[in-house]
Amino acid sequence: MSVNNCQLLEFPRILDPRGSLTPIEGGTQVPFDIQRVYYIYDVPAGASRAGHSHRELQQVLVAISGSFDVHVDDGRERKVFHMNRPYLGLYVPKMIWREIDNFSAGSVCVSLASAHYEESDYYRNYDDFLQAVRGLA
Ligand code: TYD
Repeated sequence: MSVNNCQLLEFPRILDPRGSLTPIEGGTQVPFDIQRVYYIYDVPAGASRAGHSHRELQQVLVAISGSFDVHVDDGRERKVFHMNRPYLGLYVPKMIWREIDNFSAGSVCVSLASAHYEESDYYRNYDDFLQAVRGLA
């Protein structure tokens, strides 16, 4: 897997004088069936989240409110995505190390996930992840 497989997805925007609406449908706007949604909020200044990779899970991360940076790493290359629009999602495939930081005050990070929570799907140690992507594990 490569950081080049991490891509911004643009969701529909239904603009209205009463406010904007963005629908996200699994398998249509997102390239998998959504099995789980969770969100990160009330993040204190300077905090960093994630710091892991997944063996199989695919995700889309959305800055529903405010902004944050997503650092993605495939074991060879790194990229940073500054997320600050509620109609843009960052697709993160399996076997990509990610860290999220630089949360603005009041920001909310929504994660759309391809599977239910399964701790055994995580690499939480960066060296274990590196060994796996280099075919050593
Ligand atoms: P963690 O994976 O460390 O959060 P993040 O990577 O987004 O910073 O998860 C924090 C805790 O929440 C950990 O004990 C596992 C638990 N958790 C669930 O129970 N269900 C979930 O869907 C997620 C994402 C985490």
